[in-house]
Amino acid sequence: FDVDSVRNFSIIAHIDHGKSTLADRLLEITGVISKEKKNAQVLDKLPVERQRGITVKAQTASMFYEKDGKKYLINLIDTPGHVDFSYEVSRSLAACQGTVLLVDAAQGIQAQTVANFYLAFSQGLKVIPVLNKVDLPGAEPERVEKQMHTAFEFEQNRFLRISAKSGSNVEQVLEKVVDEIPHPIGNRDLPLRSLLFDSWYDTYAGVICLISIVDGSIKKGDKIMSAHTGVKYEVSQVGIMSPGMKKTQALYAGQVGYFVCNMKSISEAYIGDTFHLVKQPVSPFEGFKQPKPMVFAGLFPSDSNDFEKLQDAINQLTLNDSSVTVNKETSNALGQGWRLGFLGTLHMDVFRQRLEEEYDVSVIISHPTVPYKVTLTNGTEQLVKSPADFPDKVKLGYNIEKISEPYYYRGSLNSHTYIDESRVIISARLPSSEIVTDFYDKLKSHSSGFASLDYEDSGYETADLVKMEVLLNNEPVDALAAVMHRSRVETNGRDIAKRLKDLIKR
Ligand code: GTP
Repeated sequence: FDVDSVRNFSIIAHIDHGKSTLADRLLEITGVISKEKKNAQVLDKLPVERQRGITVKAQTASMFYEKDGKKYLINLIDTPGHVDFSYEVSRSLAACQGTVLLVDAAQGIQAQTVANFYLAFSQGLKVIPVLNKVDLPGAEPERVEKQMHTAFEFEQNRFLRISAKSGSNVEQVLEKVVDEIPHPIGNRDLPLRSLLFDSWYDTYAGVICLISIVDGSIKKGDKIMSAHTGVKYEVSQVGIMSPGMKKTQALYAGQVGYFVCNMKSISEAYIGDTFHLVKQPVSPFEGFKQPKPMVFAGLFPSDSNDFEKLQDAINQLTLNDSSVTVNKETSNALGQGWRLGFLGTLHMDVFRQRLEEEYDVSVIISHPTVPYKVTLTNGTEQLVKSPADFPDKVKLGYNIEKISEPYYYRGSLNSHTYIDESRVIISARLPSSEIVTDFYDKLKSHSSGFASLDYEDSGYETADLVKMEVLLNNEPVDALAAVMHRSRVETNGRDIAKRLKDLIKR
């Protein structure tokens, strides 16, 4: 396939707007999966994903489609649907030239519709707006088209209206992808320059890396190198995902596929890294960043006899998710455990659920905390990921100069934008500790479920933060300690005292 008959695209949508359903329909139309199999949601693999209806790990599939007598190789690059994984979304988008922006015709624009649109738009991608679920009795396609026009300046009356569920008008999505999304520009005669945008661990094959070949080609036996780590590898297999791994002779500029090499652990496969031939270094892709954990929590076995079993389970799960950080932690109250770092609270919930379901261990997870920064008067700075790390100024012998906490925001600061008479986009800067506690639940309940939320990292800000300790019989209980804003201590302290009064026998 020459580059001009290749299309690389993704589907972006707010959670539950039907991305996986549409992906399944497209794979059926192109014969990648059979209709009979009714293999609901091929691209979502984990049980937890099916249960929660969210996509955690991005999955990609190649398909062939003929239009006006010409054969096209179309690569659908699946992106994770949740805000915790926005870095993975932006890297997956970097492997595309265009994207289908899917909006539920009953729900209209939601927070992740906006966030995903701007991610795609800022990367210069062609965005094809598509209204889904037009079969629903509550669908209001005209109203949603108006919203899309107001919010993103899409031309009105040019929207595809589909039902991913019934398949109605779905083939037109493929036609638009071929007609409107530009083909990749790449030169297969140049040295290899490829972007790693996803990876996972396979028990048989080892680490599988998904790459987008921007220039050059890659084949078995090639000696390649990571631009980020400088580590060299030898390629043992290349191929495309269709939807499982299918070996090919080589992958060429413009294509998307996988390679297997002698990589030992997924922690060597950095999303956003550039791979090139050892002998022909190239300029790496811009914007590479390592995902930073934004939420920390202590994890302990409910039964201390399960410690070893839990250790194995954590090892297994982190084989496939290198964004989780793991450190040992000991608590007087809960015994031996770990302090884990996650990208966000959903990431944390999914991890806990997988531990319990796939490994059958029951766990206690402590209240999540965000990474606070403590600057001491001697100039040193330390990151506090657990209340236990909070410096005790009396013991340390030097003073704390300031304590700061991470903030989140989305969009331009403190703005209101009305996208129709009943929907408004509000942007604000908030301490991330608010979001990891109960902000989202409160937002949902105050808005009767209508409001949705999205956020991104916005740096640190000094705040009056203290560690609250809870004493039982004059002894501090480490498991109940927490770092919080001084104004919260009284309410939170009384709340804990009230609950302990009911829980503990006289
Ligand atoms: P994430 O993976 O979390 O991003 O969700 P998703 O966007 O992939 O949504 P998914 O495809 O799982 O669809 C969510 C729900 O909407 C499912 O119950 C689907 O059956 C339903 N759904 C999807 N498309 C349609 C449609 O065209 N009409 C109707 N009535 N329901 C649909």
